Amino acid sequence: MAISSTERGSWNSKLGFILAAAGSAVGLGNIWGFPTKVATEGGAAYLVIYLLCTFLIGFPVMVAELSIGRKSGKNPVGAFKALSSNKFFPLVGLWGVICGVMILSFYTVIAGWAFGFAFEEIFYYLGWNAAADLLTDTGNGWKNAIIASVFMLGTIKIITGGVSDGIEKATKMMMPLLIGIIVIMIGYVLTQDGAMDGVREYLLPDFSKINARLIFSAMGQAFFSLSLGMGALITYGSYLSKKENIPQAAAFVTLADVGIAFLAGLLIIPAMYVAQAAGIDIFVGDQLASSTNLVFQILPALFHTIGGAVGLILGVVFFLLLSIAALTSTISLLEVPVAFVIDEYEVPRKKAAWGVGLGILVVSIIVAFNTSLIGTFDNIFNNFGLPLGGLLMCIFVGYVWKTDSALSEMELGFAGVKQGLFAKIWPIFIKFICPLVIAYNVYQGILGML
Ligand code: PHE
Repeated sequence: MAISSTERGSWNSKLGFILAAAGSAVGLGNIWGFPTKVATEGGAAYLVIYLLCTFLIGFPVMVAELSIGRKSGKNPVGAFKALSSNKFFPLVGLWGVICGVMILSFYTVIAGWAFGFAFEEIFYYLGWNAAADLLTDTGNGWKNAIIASVFMLGTIKIITGGVSDGIEKATKMMMPLLIGIIVIMIGYVLTQDGAMDGVREYLLPDFSKINARLIFSAMGQAFFSLSLGMGALITYGSYLSKKENIPQAAAFVTLADVGIAFLAGLLIIPAMYVAQAAGIDIFVGDQLASSTNLVFQILPALFHTIGGAVGLILGVVFFLLLSIAALTSTISLLEVPVAFVIDEYEVPRKKAAWGVGLGILVVSIIVAFNTSLIGTFDNIFNNFGLPLGGLLMCIFVGYVWKTDSALSEMELGFAGVKQGLFAKIWPIFIKFICPLVIAYNVYQGILGML
């Protein structure tokens, strides 16, 4: 993908776009967010609701976002301005930009944990226990702030040059490798004592666990994991060539994202029970312990029990891959406010990236010292903010811009889409099913927060 510093760019190739969009989707949401929520919100029942939210709500919204982006060729605020004269909808874009900024502020802290653990594995192997313990301490403000800053500076650097070919290549290598390592580790974990309890918890749903809170959390997770509701895919869609097939690209990104989340769950939930069988306390009462760093306790423990050079290599490679996956997501999170500043205030790309990036870094540093903010920000800007953004986008496409205009945009790269089944079903989802389900859910979420 080449976004030049002087003009709006476009993706180098179809694969470039799909890789960048999949890179945006696959990240900490899959490997940190999803298993943590499965563990704490109801196991397999959560998985079922999450899959429904992803395919029935997330996928149609993704098609809508990409269509808005490609038609307008603008950032989320500019896109709504370009497609209608309605004064309200640009505010939806602005809300998206705000959610992106706030999500990025805590995302870099967690990405920093992941990056730090790659080195923790090395220090542990070498027996440098003090250094290893420092990196294990997710509550250490200075350590968190320094690594989060490194992460943010890397993201800014990449964004200033336009997203480089290097990132396309990194993403291309990352996904299969990440899947490979996760599968190897699943194989290992499933042979350990206690693993089958975890598999049961993950795959045998107890539907009595489904309640409004679980659905609220699963919907937020689906939006977060697919990078929806804040205009990241409006922005990425704005660099997309008219020749590309939007529904097909969206389907690919959705499947890649869900596939990796599913595998991560199949690894981490059983690994928790293995840890439990080995005497590590992961339950509070009969509930799995809920905490933002749960996954970061379980995974290193796993690599350490594998031990030796194999444990070291698996651990280092896994955490480096997770860091790259997080980096391709932070790039898309930062690209949204940066594109907004470039388009709307005519600031050069370099200045916009440094100004916005450093501003967000200040918030990140506050989060680094107060990690309890992660849960609060996650609830407001992710669980509540992203579905709200998605809801308003559905209303926009369904009733203001109109699904027919969106289908005409899709037709450019998908000849015949208007005559097919997709054109019959998708508008029903965008006009009725998605807005109603999301609205009910957002309403429940607000009641829960009060
Ligand atoms: N989808 C990313 C992840 O799963 C996070 C993200 C959310 C990225 C919203 C961009 C926009 O880690």
